[in-house]
Amino acid sequence: MSAGPEALAGRPAVRQAMNLIGVPGSRSAIPTPAAIIDRTALNANIVRAAEVCGAAGVSLRPHAKTHKCADLARLQLAAGAVGICVAKLGEAEALFEAGIDDILVTSPIVTGPVAERAADLVEAGASITVTVDHPLGAEVLAATMRTPIDVLVDIDVGMARTGAPDPAAALRVAEAVAAAPLLTMRGVQGYGGIWQHIGDAEERRDAVAKGMERLTEAIELLDKHGHDTTIRTGGGTGTLDTDIALGVLTEVQPGSYTVMDGQYRDVGGDWLGGLRHALFVAATVTRTAHPDWVTVDAGLKAFATDANPPATDLGSYLWYGDEQGLLVTDRPDRPALGAHVEFVIPHCDPTIDRYDLLHVVDGDTLVDLWPIQGRGRSQ
Ligand SMILES: Cc1ncc(COP(=O)(O)O)c(C=O)c1O
Repeated sequence: MSAGPEALAGRPAVRQAMNLIGVPGSRSAIPTPAAIIDRTALNANIVRAAEVCGAAGVSLRPHAKTHKCADLARLQLAAGAVGICVAKLGEAEALFEAGIDDILVTSPIVTGPVAERAADLVEAGASITVTVDHPLGAEVLAATMRTPIDVLVDIDVGMARTGAPDPAAALRVAEAVAAAPLLTMRGVQGYGGIWQHIGDAEERRDAVAKGMERLTEAIELLDKHGHDTTIRTGGGTGTLDTDIALGVLTEVQPGSYTVMDGQYRDVGGDWLGGLRHALFVAATVTRTAHPDWVTVDAGLKAFATDANPPATDLGSYLWYGDEQGLLVTDRPDRPALGAHVEFVIPHCDPTIDRYDLLHVVDGDTLVDLWPIQGRGRSQ
């Protein structure tokens, strides 16, 4: 078992899970609701992305905001990832403490207290790269850093969520970075979250192409003024094939590909269709008295609820409160009272963030427990 779950061993349910490790058939005895990782499917996804990126000569820096788990990040790094991304400093702190170095913080820094935490991490020995999208971000970093830090300029590629809004604004940010002796400009970031789930392949490709044009315009202006744009990072699971084909990015940041979810299953296509569901939420049937459904012990607290309901071949899941859900089924072999059922989850990142542990299974056996160190660390 990997180091870490012992810290949670004071909890009886965690102790029960620890005692199940290696016991044949133990998958169905895991205390529920629980986040389950199918190790074979996970490894297949990790290897597939590494191969796709490796063949194209594009660096893979997986986004760990999906899983927030050091054990999982270590597998990605062992398969060839150049480092990881995190969304927030809190995730960086948690994963660095758990032994992960080389971290890109993809949410631009704006305030002094956040810059202070980046400075502390660098001083503690972390290899941290941060992003800024406004001169103020560069100024607060410049005022805070005591040792050098690598910086990327985040550029809005059409989402209007983060990023310098146009090339001239990007140049002003780069100039503010260049003016600060302890800030080292390394390149640019351009991420289009709104493209990731576009169902029509051609429409998705067009959207990414337009965004990459915007990124290229900014890169050209920065290059013209002598700013380093060696790193061009962005992209995600839904667009990875297009991100690579367009050739603008030198580094890609997919996150969900590791475990997949219902949202991405619904998008489909060759690349996405070849990824396997590796994350499930396990539940227990706690009532069978109704003729049309059984009750399970996984409700709104067990899943992210921003997408279609959880899925299983056994029937249809209906949200039915904080602690329970309904599995509507007319199958003659519907699950019995106390049965273990597993659901494909609607949306992976916010689902994993609800759990302290990933229960890793190989076939029907629980083989490991991985703490989710970055769980809840969104500050
Ligand atoms: C900046 C950034 N990069 C990459 C990703 C990865 O996205 P996905 O999980 O869809 O691969 C995200 C996800 O929100 C993100 O915010």
